[in-house]
Amino acid sequence: MFGSILLVALMGAGPAPGTSLPTGDGSAEAVAARLSAMLQAARSVISKHQTDINDPAKGDKHLDAATVVGEAIAAYKAKTGEDPTAYDPATRQGRLIGAQLEAIAEVMDEAQSSINQEGVGFKGFIPATFARLVNETFARRVVGEATVKVTAPLDLVRNRKARPDEWETAVIAERFLAEDWPRGTPFSETVTEGGAATFRMAVPEYYAASCLSCHGGPKGSTDITGYPREGAAEADLGGVISVIINEP
Ligand code: HEC
Repeated sequence: MFGSILLVALMGAGPAPGTSLPTGDGSAEAVAARLSAMLQAARSVISKHQTDINDPAKGDKHLDAATVVGEAIAAYKAKTGEDPTAYDPATRQGRLIGAQLEAIAEVMDEAQSSINQEGVGFKGFIPATFARLVNETFARRVVGEATVKVTAPLDLVRNRKARPDEWETAVIAERFLAEDWPRGTPFSETVTEGGAATFRMAVPEYYAASCLSCHGGPKGSTDITGYPREGAAEADLGGVISVIINEP
């Protein structure tokens, strides 16, 4: 009983931001960090509902676009302490986060017939695939302005579309895989190519125990998705969220 009072007291303290975002001044760094945080929030929603999505006995999963967007917004708020719907849509930050939420909705609309199919267990609708589809849809909606991609060290890449480019390869090798790199810390810089300035941010992600049913061992054995397992271990660098913001 004392425990539950304590819990209520703690919850009353409001959201405890797990991630400190760069101040919301609309800089490329601030926007990139928010796009990355929203992708993670939305992916966590799919992860939370995975058992349901894979349930062959259940038809309608009640996981429509509005539900997933609503839960993603709530997860983002819990993680960052910010309400993404309060971002001014007239700003780059508001516009890009808005486009990302629309991309999440579009992907969920298109997934309905597949995820609501009765009699089918595993449907291939997993957080990584969802994230890739959201990122592809986002890129179409904001052409040229920004891209979000999930990549990984080359030896771990499953989908060819996720292969790291030169900049990502260098960041992975020289920063994220360096012994002394502070775990979980993003790397960002402005890159100038052909006179155009591009802001780039990479956010490292590590395997949790829950990832290893597919990415763990035995190495080379086939997982439920049909891919060979990588033989990875918990806490290994598993992937990188890579955000590009093209300066106007
Ligand atoms: C059910 C099996 C499964 C689980 C569990 C799983 N993954 Fe994956 N992962 C995949 C598949 C399949 C892809 C390719 C998805 C695509 O592009 O459609 C993938 C892709 C990725 C990618 C993108 C790069 C690439 O290889 O294409 C990263 C990064 C990644 N997974 C990390 C993780 C992490 C971290 C976890 C745990 C939080 C995790 N995965 C859990 C199956 C899984």
